[in-house]
Amino acid sequence: MSEIGRIGIVGGTGPLGRGLAARLSHSYEVLIGSRVETRAAEVAEEASRLTGRKVGGATNLDVARACDCAILALPDLAATELIQEMEKELWGKLVISPIVPMKLKDGRFTYSPSDGSAAETVASILEGSRVAAAFHTVPAPKLLAMGERLEYTVPVASERRETFKEVAAVVSSIQDLKPLYAGPLSSARTVEALTPLLLNLGRLNGGKNLSIRIV
Ligand SMILES: NC(=O)c1ccc[n+]([C@@H]2O[C@H](COP(=O)([O-])OP(=O)(O)OC[C@H]3O[C@@H](n4cnc5c(N)ncnc54)[C@H](OP(=O)(O)O)[C@@H]3O)[C@@H](O)[C@H]2O)c1
Repeated sequence: MSEIGRIGIVGGTGPLGRGLAARLSHSYEVLIGSRVETRAAEVAEEASRLTGRKVGGATNLDVARACDCAILALPDLAATELIQEMEKELWGKLVISPIVPMKLKDGRFTYSPSDGSAAETVASILEGSRVAAAFHTVPAPKLLAMGERLEYTVPVASERRETFKEVAAVVSSIQDLKPLYAGPLSSARTVEALTPLLLNLGRLNGGKNLSIRIV
C-alpha cells in the first residue's frame, strides 16, 4: 500500500471522468486521459477553469504511467483492448473501476456483463494491480454541480479490506460521500447492477440523477 498523490482518470473526457476530476482535484493532483492528447488537454483546461485547481491532460497511456491510482472511466468492455495495453503501466497500482455493463432495451436498462462483472474482467486483465469497484451510483451531473452536497453511500468491492481502505480514502476526499465495504470483487456484480436499477427508477418515476444513501 503506497501513498496516493496523483490520480489518473483513464477515459476522463466523458461525463463521469470530468465530474470526478472536478471533485478530486481539491485533494489530489489529477490527470485526465484520452485516446486523443488534444482532447485530454481541452477537457483538463475546462476542469481547471471550473475548479480553480490545475488539472493535467495526456494520453491514456501517459496518464496510466504517471499516476499512483487510476480510475477507469470507460464505457464497458469496448475498452478491454485499452486496458490490456495499460497492463505494464498500471502494475502494482490501485485501479478503480466504475464501469457498468448495461443495455437499454424496450425502454428499460438491464445489467449485461459478459462474464461475472466488469470489475472482475478488469482484474483478470490487470493481474498485477489492486483492482476495486466503486463510484457506480454517483451521477456525473451531480459531481459537476460543484455547490451540490453529495450525501450518498458508495459501495466498494475489492478482494482485500486493505484495498477498500485505500479506495475509501479517495471516496471520502469528496465531501459527504460515504464509502462502505461491499465485500470481495465478486460483489461487484450486485454493486454494478445498482446503476440500471437507479436509471429505471428514474425513468419510471420521473426522477433524474438518482443515487443511494444507506441508513
Ligand atoms: N456518467 C455517469 O453518470 C456514470 C455514473 C457512474 C458510473 N458510470 C460508468 O462509468 C463509465 C464512464 O462513464 P461516462 O458516462 O463518462 O462514459 P463515456 O462518456 O461513454 O466514455 C468515457 C470516455 O471513454 C473514451 N472511450 C469511448 N470509447 C472508447 C473505446 N472503445 N476505447 C477506449 N476509450 C473509449 C472516450 O474518451 P476519448 O474519446 O477522449 O478517448 C469517452 O469520453 C461507464 O462505464 C459508465 O457506465 C457513469
